[in-house]
Amino acid sequence: MTVQALPIENYALLDDADCEARIVAAKQKLGKRVVILGHHYQRDEVFRHADLTGDSLKLSREASHSEAEYIVFCGVHFMAEVADILSRPEQIAILPDLAAGCSMADMASLPAVQRCWQELAQVLDPDADVTPVTYINSAADLKAFCGKHGGIVCTSSNAGKILDNSFAQRPKVLFFPDQHLGRNTGYRMGIALEHMVLWDPALPLGGLSEQQIRDARMILWKGYCSVHQVFMPAHIDAYLARHPDALVISHPECSFEVCQKSQYVGSTEYILKTVRDAPAATHWLVGTELNMVNRLAAEVKAQGKQVHFMSPIICMCSTMFRTDPQHLAWVLENLVNGVVVNRIRVPADEARLAKLALERMLRIV
Ligand code: 13P
Ligand code: SF4
Repeated sequence: MTVQALPIENYALLDDADCEARIVAAKQKLGKRVVILGHHYQRDEVFRHADLTGDSLKLSREASHSEAEYIVFCGVHFMAEVADILSRPEQIAILPDLAAGCSMADMASLPAVQRCWQELAQVLDPDADVTPVTYINSAADLKAFCGKHGGIVCTSSNAGKILDNSFAQRPKVLFFPDQHLGRNTGYRMGIALEHMVLWDPALPLGGLSEQQIRDARMILWKGYCSVHQVFMPAHIDAYLARHPDALVISHPECSFEVCQKSQYVGSTEYILKTVRDAPAATHWLVGTELNMVNRLAAEVKAQGKQVHFMSPIICMCSTMFRTDPQHLAWVLENLVNGVVVNRIRVPADEARLAKLALERMLRIV
């Protein structure tokens, strides 16, 4: 007899306290058969149920090492795809709300990147001259594109090492979808700004001249994170004018100008570690997503550390926020009944090529 899935409508009106109890009970019943991975940007009511937390690199490794039958990814779509690609065939990756995407990842599509590659071929030989590097915040078909064309995946915590390795293979890099991570990392490696050009997929030849492409070392896709673009250099200046002792730390998805004004730049895991390991009573201005900053502020308060959010306006990652306790309770109770809802499955051919690009990354860092 086929067991019917419990409908999500049954959960929509549950309050968070009910969900909390039901999540705990379902997790207990499932035991080691399930692992919940939680990205740092998840809201507290979800984050507290994660068995493992981390930045994208750490969570990719956890997904590849996990023994559990079900990997429930409290994060966004591309993260659950990575879990599916790196896990064993019998493991099942689940995304509690299928609408939890990443607006930055959506800024580069496979047809647009293929068009770019073809257009670059008018000027140079891309398969000999250009390593395609995709930020992990991208769809699986773009990771597969990189796998096919000798390219690689990077995350915010290993971008420098991945770029070093990519330049050792070929003289140029096409970096997508986040221009800021590309520019901030390239600049730290000593690449001049004029040798990093911006490819606008809406324009012929990316809006560049043939000479600009020939002279470029990095071709940066015109993508960005809507959360991190909210942070402005003026926010830092205004804060430091009032609190000159504050230390500034930012995620590399922030603009070049914001990162230049920050003493520390790194992934979510790096930000947490840096502030946690800092001397007592230090004062921090942090440029990344609000849920994580609030949690960090509460955690280090007892050590006399002050942690402030960089922007005067509230900005959360609205897609990360879609994963709520209601959806988590829904997927877990269905698993208890033996029903898988919201499975993320990357088509086999695409997964094989994407895995190549991911494994190239995991071999380096
Ligand atoms: P991290 O890998 O630093 O966690 O970043 C992921 C992300 O999406 C940040 O916007
Ligand atoms: Fe995507 Fe930005 Fe959200 Fe990260 S914070 S998941 S890059 S939209």
